[in-house]
Amino acid sequence: MQTLYVELGERRYPIFIGSDLDPNALLEPYIHGRQVMIVSNETVAPLYLARYVAAIEALGKTVATCILPDGEKYKNIEHLNLIFDALLASGFNRDCTVLALGGGVIGDMAGFASACFQRGVYFIQVPTTLLSQVDSSVGGKTGINHPLGKNMIGAFQQPQVVLADMSQLKTLPARELSAGLAEVIKYALLGDTDFLTWLEQHIDDLVQGDEAALAEAVYRSCAHKARIVANDEKEQGERALLNLGHTFGHAIESYLGYGEWLHGEAVATGMVMAADLSQRMGWISAEDLARTKNIIQRANLPIVCPQIPLDDFLAYMAHDKKVLNGQLRLVLMQAVGQAIITKTFDVELMKQAILANQEQA
Ligand code: NAD
Ligand code: GLY
Repeated sequence: MQTLYVELGERRYPIFIGSDLDPNALLEPYIHGRQVMIVSNETVAPLYLARYVAAIEALGKTVATCILPDGEKYKNIEHLNLIFDALLASGFNRDCTVLALGGGVIGDMAGFASACFQRGVYFIQVPTTLLSQVDSSVGGKTGINHPLGKNMIGAFQQPQVVLADMSQLKTLPARELSAGLAEVIKYALLGDTDFLTWLEQHIDDLVQGDEAALAEAVYRSCAHKARIVANDEKEQGERALLNLGHTFGHAIESYLGYGEWLHGEAVATGMVMAADLSQRMGWISAEDLARTKNIIQRANLPIVCPQIPLDDFLAYMAHDKKVLNGQLRLVLMQAVGQAIITKTFDVELMKQAILANQEQA
C-alpha cells in the first residue's frame, strides 16, 4: 500500500492506495463519532457494501445505508434529498460520518450532503471507479447538477480520508476504465513528461486492469492533484490546469447529451483539440501532437468526435466555468508536460482545431 497526503494544514488527509485494503484498520482513526451513513448505488452496493458495513460495525459504530439509483441523471436535488431523509430518519447527529462508496456521482452527492447536513459533518471517500480514484475523490469539489447546468450547485468539502482499492476495479466495465485513463493521461500531458513516458510503457497493462500498474498510475495522478489542491484549494489559479481538454470536452458532452459519451471520452477528444490548437499556435511540434493522439488511442479512447456544427460547439464552450468577464480561457500545452491557462489564443486557429478533430462527412 502507498500513502499520499493532501497538505491542507489542520485539514490534511491521507489517500491510501493499494489492493485488498483493510477498511477496518484504515478507516478507524478517521471515523470520529458513533454513526456512519454509507451512500452507494444499486450497482456498487451488491458488490462491496457488505464488506464496509461489516468492517465499520466491527469498530462498534452504528451503520445506516442510503442506496441511490445508478446514473448521472440522478445527480440532482431530488436524489440528494434522499440522503438527508436517510440521515434524519436514522437520527444522525452532528458528529456523524457520511461515507461515499461508488464512483464520482456518488462521491459528489454524498460529499455535498455531508457539507450541508447540520451545516457540515465528517466525510469519507471510498472511490470505486478509476476516474473517481484519480480525480473526483481528491480535492473536495462536491455537488449536483441543475437542469440548466452540470455541477452548478455544490460546495468544497474535503474528506477525512480517501481509500482507493485497486481490487474493486476488477468489476468495472472496460469502457469506464478507459474513461478513467483519460484523466490519468491528463496529468501526464499537463505536468509530467516522465509520467507520460511511463504511461507509454505501461498503457497495455493499464487497459488490461493490471492492479500493480493501476496502483502506480493512481499514485502518480493523485500526487499531482494533491500538490495542486494544496497550493490552490479554491481554484483561484493553477487548479484550473486540471481542466485540460475539459472546455472542448464539455461542448462535446453537452451537444451529444449527457450519458451518450462518458466524461472521460469527451475529455480525451478535448485534449486532442487542445493539443492540436497548441500545435497550430506553434507551441508544440507535430510529433508532440501525434504522441498525444497515440497515447489516447492506445487507452481505447476516441480522438475525434462526431460532426458538431461549429456554432453549436462554440456556444457550448462559452458556457464554461472558466469564462471570466465574458472572456473564454483555455488550458493549452506550451510543451508536452507543461500546460498553461490562457485567454490569448487565435480564435480562427481554435475553430480549425475543432473542425480538424471531428468525423468528416
Ligand atoms: P459514475 O459514478 O457514474 O460511475 C460509472 C459507472 O460505474 C456507474 O454505472 C457506476 O455504478 C459503476 N461503478 C462504479 N464503481 C464500480 C465498480 N467497482 N464495479 C462496477 N461498476 C462500478 O462515474 P465516474 O466516472 O466515476 O464519475 C463521474 C462523475 O464524477 C460526474 O458526475 C462528474 O461530474 C464527477 N466528477 C467530479 C469531480 C470532482 O472533482 N468532484 C471530478 C471529475 C468528475
Ligand atoms: N476535476 C478538477 C478539479 O478537481 O479541480
